Amino acid sequence: MEIGKIVRRILQAESILIGAGAGMGVDSGLPDFRGKEGFWRAYPPLADLGLQFEEMANPRWFHEDPTLAWGFYGHRYQLYKSTRPHKGYEILKKWIQSLQIPSFIYTSNVDGHFSSTGWRNQTLECHGSLMHLQCLENCGQSPWIAQSSIKQKIQVCMKTLRCKSALPSCPGCHKLARPNILMFSDFYWDQSRTSQQEKALENWLSINGNQQLFVIEIGAGITIPTVRSFCEKTKEFYDCEMVRINPRDYHSPSGVEVLPLGALESLQLLDSEISKVLR
Ligand SMILES: NC(=O)c1ccc[n+]([C@@H]2O[C@H](COP(=O)([O-])OP(=O)(O)OC[C@H]3O[C@@H](n4cnc5c(N)ncnc54)[C@H](O)[C@@H]3O)[C@@H](O)[C@H]2O)c1
Ligand SMILES: [Zn+2]
Repeated sequence: MEIGKIVRRILQAESILIGAGAGMGVDSGLPDFRGKEGFWRAYPPLADLGLQFEEMANPRWFHEDPTLAWGFYGHRYQLYKSTRPHKGYEILKKWIQSLQIPSFIYTSNVDGHFSSTGWRNQTLECHGSLMHLQCLENCGQSPWIAQSSIKQKIQVCMKTLRCKSALPSCPGCHKLARPNILMFSDFYWDQSRTSQQEKALENWLSINGNQQLFVIEIGAGITIPTVRSFCEKTKEFYDCEMVRINPRDYHSPSGVEVLPLGALESLQLLDSEISKVLR
């Protein structure tokens, strides 16, 4: 780890791509789902039912057991919505604004925290967003903002993880709504929002990919390595520099700088150097 080198890369960058996984949310107080123990610590009732993340994140629960499905996703929606993103988001924003360079986010996080901290139109949420809903029956209604259907707090019994309040419904056909996120064995995920974001990123890369691009990957796991692969491939394709920030899964291909620390600690550490220059 060479802080000075990473600081120089950031200061010299003409564009920055930030790839973020569940680890980016950990310092905001959100759980990552590393291993079944991590998942069950966050959701004890699912340990009693013996359900792992991969089993619970399946659209079949909305058909077979809607109050359990909405208990799980309703709790996450409530948690992500009420949690304030940690200061690292502000630090990243500050760098981008001070350097006056374009940036884009590629994230598997469904918490909407990058969108709400200023990257609304420069974010690709590759697994969708819990802040948006879609029709379970795919009646033709486009995905919509969750808040417009969830006016009151979703009430979840934490002993059973069952939703106690009214379940959100589709404004088009009034049947059950589900989060607009990609689950496992999910053949009916409405990709339209994410496809638009994909086009925006393609366009952004075609303009900025060859402009001294720097890739900052933060908290991206190895179980579902979508973000890691994307960052590594982007680095390779544009032959640019990259840093991987991760306290545990930091092994990397050669040529990738590594910061084996948490997201907030890393960003604060870098910022203490960068702000001396950007002041
Ligand atoms: N906030 C969210 O939206 C959220 C949270 C949990 C899971 N998920 C979903 O789970 C799936 C798996 O995502 P994943 O592979 O990114 O998660 P993961 O749970 O498999 O991996 C999390 C990674 O974060 C790292 N990490 C832990 N603490 C950290 C910290 N303080 N700072 C930086 N990194 C830290 C871990 O070492 C690990 O590599 C995705 O589909 C995602 O949609 C989303
Ligand atoms: Zn509908």
